[in-house]
Amino acid sequence: MRRLAEELEISLGIPHHPEEGELLIRLRPTENPNKIPEEKPPEPRFAEPEPQQDGRGRGGRGRDSRPPHRFQRAETWREEKNETFDEGDEGMEPEAPPEPRFEEGWDVLARLTPRPLSARAWRVCNMAGGLNATIAYAVFKLAGVREQDRVFNPMSGSGTLLIERDLMGPSTALVGVDINADAVRCAQQNIEAAGRTIEVARVDALETGLPPRSFDLIVADLPWGDAITVRGGNEALYLAFLKEMHRLCSRQGRMVVLTHELKLFERLMAEQDRWHVHELFQVYSGGHHPKAYLLSRK
Ligand SMILES: C[S@@+](CC[C@H](N)C(=O)[O-])C[C@H]1O[C@@H](n2cnc3c(N)ncnc32)[C@H](O)[C@@H]1O
Repeated sequence: MRRLAEELEISLGIPHHPEEGELLIRLRPTENPNKIPEEKPPEPRFAEPEPQQDGRGRGGRGRDSRPPHRFQRAETWREEKNETFDEGDEGMEPEAPPEPRFEEGWDVLARLTPRPLSARAWRVCNMAGGLNATIAYAVFKLAGVREQDRVFNPMSGSGTLLIERDLMGPSTALVGVDINADAVRCAQQNIEAAGRTIEVARVDALETGLPPRSFDLIVADLPWGDAITVRGGNEALYLAFLKEMHRLCSRQGRMVVLTHELKLFERLMAEQDRWHVHELFQVYSGGHHPKAYLLSRK
């Protein structure tokens, strides 16, 4: 490990300090790209198909139409058994291309920055469901960073979206609200640590009392799963949210919604006629696969 760390330090230029852990190295067995998930013993070549409920027998479409990986496995088995086939064998499938060679070994993974890209010095307070800062950054990159934007972040939690937006450049207004007092305090601590001045208040995003068309860009990381805040669950919350944000969004305005409730959100989008919607991206984050959608008023 020491020699490996020294080599990596030279080639990556990241100092290796075992105590502070600046250079992070991970070793793992190389994954076999050809891995067949389930290793079953090969099927006998000419075994009669077992009848299934639909009466078609195993594979349904007969031996000629077996999927390639099953065919390849049968080929391997034939080689092992030293059996041969003539080119004209009835029912034979064309030769499958050989799988790429795989050699067992180890992957050496090295992080290329002293800290993970998502780690932010300003994060002094975290909360369950806090957004990864790199996702927040990506959202604004894709939604556009415009000085003339009045930006609203309903359901602002620990303030990730607010801070990342502010760090990217000036805006005409930048306001966050959250219904939870702890979340507001958490956001305020992070904002202070970031050295920014951003307005964040304990207010129900569905009842802000603000006039129509107050904002040009609304960015929301919606509650999901069991973090239900309204009677009727997330469906009622999402419906009320979409209606109220439509009221608060300017005519040329846009909104980005981040959510883990993909089925629910996509169904609601299919059933409504207030917003145009298109998917921006899907990420893997903390064991989940949230999506970001860009909405514009119809
Ligand atoms: C997924 S979290 C947001 C996390 C945030 N992006 C962060 O980085 O910390 C959803 C937030 O919505 C807030 N919330 C739920 N219903 C709300 C409502 N009606 N008005 C305002 N905030 C609400 C919750 O308190 C929670 O902080």
